[in-house]
Order: sequence, then structure tokens, then C-alpha cells
Amino acid sequence: MDEKKRYEDIIRILDEYSYEYYVMDNPTVEDAEYDKLMQELLQIEEKHPDWVTNDSPSMRVGGEVLEGFEKVEHKIPMLSLANAFNEQDLLDFDRRIREKVGEDREYMCELKIDGLAVSLAYENGRYNRGATRGDGSVGEDITANLRTIRSIPMKLKQPFSIEVRGEAYMPKRSFVKLNEKREEDGLPQFANPRNAAAGSLRQLDTKIAASRNLDIFLYAVADFGEMGVSRHSDGLDKLTELGLRTNKERRVCKTMDEVFQYIEEWTQKRETLDYDIDGIVIKLNDLAQQEEMGARIKTPRWSIAYKFPAEEVETKLEGIELNVGRTGVVTPTAVLDPVQLAGTTVSRASLHNEDLIHERDIRVGDTVVVEKSRRHHSRNHSKHSRKTYGE
Ligand code: IVH
Repeated sequence: MDEKKRYEDIIRILDEYSYEYYVMDNPTVEDAEYDKLMQELLQIEEKHPDWVTNDSPSMRVGGEVLEGFEKVEHKIPMLSLANAFNEQDLLDFDRRIREKVGEDREYMCELKIDGLAVSLAYENGRYNRGATRGDGSVGEDITANLRTIRSIPMKLKQPFSIEVRGEAYMPKRSFVKLNEKREEDGLPQFANPRNAAAGSLRQLDTKIAASRNLDIFLYAVADFGEMGVSRHSDGLDKLTELGLRTNKERRVCKTMDEVFQYIEEWTQKRETLDYDIDGIVIKLNDLAQQEEMGARIKTPRWSIAYKFPAEEVETKLEGIELNVGRTGVVTPTAVLDPVQLAGTTVSRASLHNEDLIHERDIRVGDTVVVEKSRRHHSRNHSKHSRKTYGE
């Protein structure tokens, strides 16, 4: 039998299995079946190293060690979103839209994934380049690290040349495992899944990135118009058809009441997800109406991000005050650069006792994490500068 053909067939079958498993969350074969084919693939590749291309499923495990990250220019800038913090901000957003496009409008509500914005370029259906957002105009080339994300197809189901955008993230389960492992190895902990994901994609050794079990949700195309759709929701369906992983918890809402209902639901349910979300993104669904609304310099006028009240924020430690209580016990208090936390302004937090300060090596000038205290136990804690986290 023609070995080259067998080789190509195996790649096609493995890609299909991966699509079912990682994109559709619906495995159709036993792991053993997958592993068997993978072994056969590796054997053929050993015999014919010249056949191996970057598209091969065997390339998912990394191996390449980079010297640095090249700059990538985003021809269509990667915008960010204006924030809304309450119902009024959202009603104002809706009013601005109705004033411009009329009453006939609908919104797509999506989860706001707390990860890292990335852009994936496909050339005739083939994965060509992956980049970070950077400042929105220029990002970094992380093609090799993104290739290790199993749910990113190396080949689309149709030969489109498109640039898709989305959020790379570390699932909570991977995050907990990673920190457990780091603890065992005596390495510093990552503060949260977002920092861990960012640290992983910045690895020059692609094997390390591969070991971090990252994932991705795609939520936009640089230019949706290229795909022949007229609504954002159809664009997302189209991305799914092409083999790209989208978040299925999205919902089209026809009224602001439906939008508020969606927000309320996910404010309750967010803990049940295996990934962090920090809010809800609301997008005007009709692409022609989006165009009509236009954009500010950095943010579109057709979309807004409702942010959940933060339960944990970073700020600067301005000083440490020592207070002597009636019983003579000295309690240190952190004096903070004031920040919004869970709807109030926080400028001071208890540091409990001196031991804690030494244990965590807390120093004035550090970037610290302030966490809302849970129930009656004050669990405000501080951490040493996060800049030192990662490798
Ligand atoms: S849309 C032009 N949708 O939130 C619109 N962004 O503050 C571009 N994000 O930079 C963004 N989930 O990194 C969009 N479902 C979602 C998102 C999402 C997370 C991030 C993204 C963006 C930031 C905006």
C-alpha cells in the first residue's frame, strides 16, 4: 500500500478525532484507538522525516526552542472594550445604539473569558501564524506555542484565508494541577489562571507551553464580512463549522431585560465553569449596524463589557502601619493605593501579624493582591510582586 497515502489518511483521521474531542467536547473513539494511530504516525515520520510538516499532529507536543518572539503587525487592529459596571451603564449603551440605528436591534451576549487575547491567521485554510494582542497594533509571534493547543485546528474545514480572534486561557483544572506540581518542585505559585496562561505562552521552549494544557475560545474574525454573513451570531456558527472552538453559552437577546437576565444567570453560575470569566460581553448582532456605530480609537461603539464586581484586585502597598491594641498586641495594617473591590473603595487591609509579613516577604512598594474577605474571617492577603512570577 502507498505509505504516503496512508500517512496522509492517518493525519486526516487524527485531526477529525481531535476536532470531536477538543472542539466539540464529544469524543467518538477510545483513547487507545487514538494512541494506536498516533504510534503508527510517529513510526512513519521516523522513516520519512522529510514528510513531516508543522501541520502534523505530532507537532502538538512542542520541541522547538525559540530565541525570542518576533513582532507581528495587526493590519486590522485588535480593539479592546469599554466597560460597564452597572445596569445604568448598559442602559446608556443601549440608548446610544437605539439613537443611531433605531429600535430594531438585537444583542449577542457572551461570556467574557479571563485569558489572553490572541489572533490566529489561516492561509487557504492552513494555520499560518498566531500572535498576541500586544498594544492592539503590534503583538508578538507565538505561532509555535499556540500550535500546542489541541483545539486549534491546523487545517480548517474549508480553505478560507481569515484571521480569527479569541481568548487563550488555562482551564481551572490545569491551573490547580500546575500549582500543585510547582509547590512540589519548590517553584513560586501562579496567582491566577490568567497569569499562568500568559506565562505559558511566553515560553521560549515550546515543550513547556505544550505541558500547560491551555485552551481557547474564538469569538471574532478580523473582518467578518469576508465570510459572507450578516450577523455576528451567524459568524460564530460559521467559525464552529470551520472547526474552530467557540463558547456555546452565548445567547442572542432581543431586549435589555433579556440581557440583564443573562447577566444575572451567569453571575450566579460562573463558579460552575472550568474557566474564569470576569464579565459579560454585549455585542450588537447585526454587522451592518456595527459598521454604522463605528469605533473610538481603541474600542468599538457597538460592544461593551459588563464587568463583575472584582473580588480580587492588584494594587500598590504604600506603607505598613503598626497599631498597638489595648492588650498590647501589635497589629500591622497595609496602607494601599485605593482600589475598587466588590463595590467599595479599599485603602487599608489587615496584615494580621508580623510573621505573615516575613513569611510572604511583603515590602512597601510591592504590588499586592487584595481579596475580599469571605464570611467573618478576614482573608485579605498580600503577595509579593507578581512580576517575579513565571519563569
Ligand atoms: S470581543 C472588538 N468577546 O476582553 C471586540 N472579547 O476588554 C473585541 N474577551 O481584548 C473583543 N471574552 O481579550 C470579546 N467573548 C468575548 C471576550 C472578549 C474575553 C477579552 C478580549 C478583549 C477584552 C476586552
